Amino acid sequence: MIRIADPAEMRAWTRTAKRDGARIGFVPTMGAIHEGHLRLVDIAARQSDHVIASVFVNPLQFGPREDLARYPRDLAGDAAKLQHRHVQCLFAPSTATMYPAEMEVRVTPGTMADTLCGPFRPGHFAGVLTAVAKLLHIVEPDVAVFGRKDYQQAVLIRRMVSDLNLPVDVVVGPLVRERDGLALSSRNAYLSTAERAQAAALARALDAAHRAFAAGSRAAAAVLHAARAELAAAAVEIEYADLVDPETLRPVHEAQASSVVAVAGRVGATRLIDNAPVGAGPEADPRVE
Ligand code: PAJ
Repeated sequence: MIRIADPAEMRAWTRTAKRDGARIGFVPTMGAIHEGHLRLVDIAARQSDHVIASVFVNPLQFGPREDLARYPRDLAGDAAKLQHRHVQCLFAPSTATMYPAEMEVRVTPGTMADTLCGPFRPGHFAGVLTAVAKLLHIVEPDVAVFGRKDYQQAVLIRRMVSDLNLPVDVVVGPLVRERDGLALSSRNAYLSTAERAQAAALARALDAAHRAFAAGSRAAAAVLHAARAELAAAAVEIEYADLVDPETLRPVHEAQASSVVAVAGRVGATRLIDNAPVGAGPEADPRVE
């Protein structure tokens, strides 16, 4: 695996590979690589000849009171995991190369960024989209793979690529869970043993919503009541529990199987998110051994 930090060198690497007829897959990450990321690498590998992964903790997507300073960083460990999964190239730019001076121009999302996580993380999605747009322009992949774990992010990235005519195919991979249902996340490393047990309530909340739907409930209020009850029982401080349209992210009042239940909450100081289609629930998602 080759490691590149310089954007010009990164683009030259892709262009050389493409000239040789290779199709390029790309998996952007903020590092602290876990099996959820690595499954996206596997998907990218099936759809391309060479996989590039990036590790860049993007300051633009963290709010002033968020965890930028303590976000887990382990580039050597990440490189070993990615190499083991046959990533050909790791792009790990410095913050100074990605953002040389105060940014004057950014990507600004519309109202789809105003639902779910949006109100709780002002500027977050503008920060994500700006970084992803830059990464896509630097790496120039044929296909970029994102995870369903960050559902609103994935939908917004699809829209950015479509609305701004970016020349890349976007693939959204499944949400990978621990055995007890907890969605794999770099932020799970913050959880104490007691908090780790509490955190499983997010997936149980999605399951409760799914069971209410399967039992015939269609009113969003009823489905969400079941989800909220699970979160409250585990003393998870609820940020939101919403039922939304899978494409527009607008709240729906009558559940359909494809409607997405999305939850966010705090376990201790750690903010966690999760989601699943109400018709499938989290049981349908892949689990790690
Ligand atoms: P990060 O949180 O590192 O996640 C990188 C990618 O892995 C994202 O597409 C995310 O949705 C996916 N992912 C994380 N946990 C997952 C899980 N349990 N199952 C499946 N996929 C999972 O998301 C970001 O970084 C950043 O916002 C980024 C897109 C890199 C822009 O800075």
